[in-house]
Amino acid sequence: MRKLAAGNWKMNGTSADIPQLEALAAAHANAGVDVVMCGPATLLHRMAVTGVSIGGEDCHPETSGAHTGDISAEMIKDAGATHVITGHSERRTDHGEDNALIAAKTTAGWAAGLHVILCIGESEAQYRAGDTLEVLRAQMDASIPDGATAQTTTIAYEPIWAIGTGLTPTPEEIAAVHANLRAYLMDRFETGSQMRLLYGGSVKASNADEIFALANVDGALVGGASLKAADFSPIITALENA
Ligand code: 13P
Repeated sequence: MRKLAAGNWKMNGTSADIPQLEALAAAHANAGVDVVMCGPATLLHRMAVTGVSIGGEDCHPETSGAHTGDISAEMIKDAGATHVITGHSERRTDHGEDNALIAAKTTAGWAAGLHVILCIGESEAQYRAGDTLEVLRAQMDASIPDGATAQTTTIAYEPIWAIGTGLTPTPEEIAAVHANLRAYLMDRFETGSQMRLLYGGSVKASNADEIFALANVDGALVGGASLKAADFSPIITALENA
């Protein structure tokens, strides 16, 4: 399978940041891995013409209608995106999104022809209680629709306590979780052995080599270190060399 270096700008980025993507496009024109930058809806059109593959950060489950302020998967696709994130923990927390809604958004993303990067992850309390695997399996049971295939879906494991904190699980912990996720995907989906599994949470140039060396880590979903080409570029290179 082709690995994926995905960025997530979250609620960051204006037109002044487009040169960061242009620099990435120039430096990684023939990357040996897939590179996708997910950005705010306001910037997708401009991001799309840089040559970097683009994703939305969220979508509404319906195609159109009276939903002020919301954005459909069709709109994201129309803006030039090829990917969309669903189920990010910040959506789950800030907007009370539950697994059923995330499943509906994922189906909407597929219907629009977008590849969905579906996020799962445990809280710090769940991690400390030793409930990580149980939490992740419950999230996958209820948020990954039955029709998922390796072609349409990537799963991103993002421990909530590792996001933006500079903390990460140990390599052994990441490897153990990813092995468990792989077993789940293979059990449930015909193409589960080929479905990409990303790690996310405080990935940066200094820890990328160690994380990408782990079995069943097929790339990363990167927040803070995706904002500047100088920070994201070495992460792409580390994935290419893994
Ligand atoms: P950070 O890389 O800033 O920890 O964010 C991870 C993340 O939430 C990506 O979706």
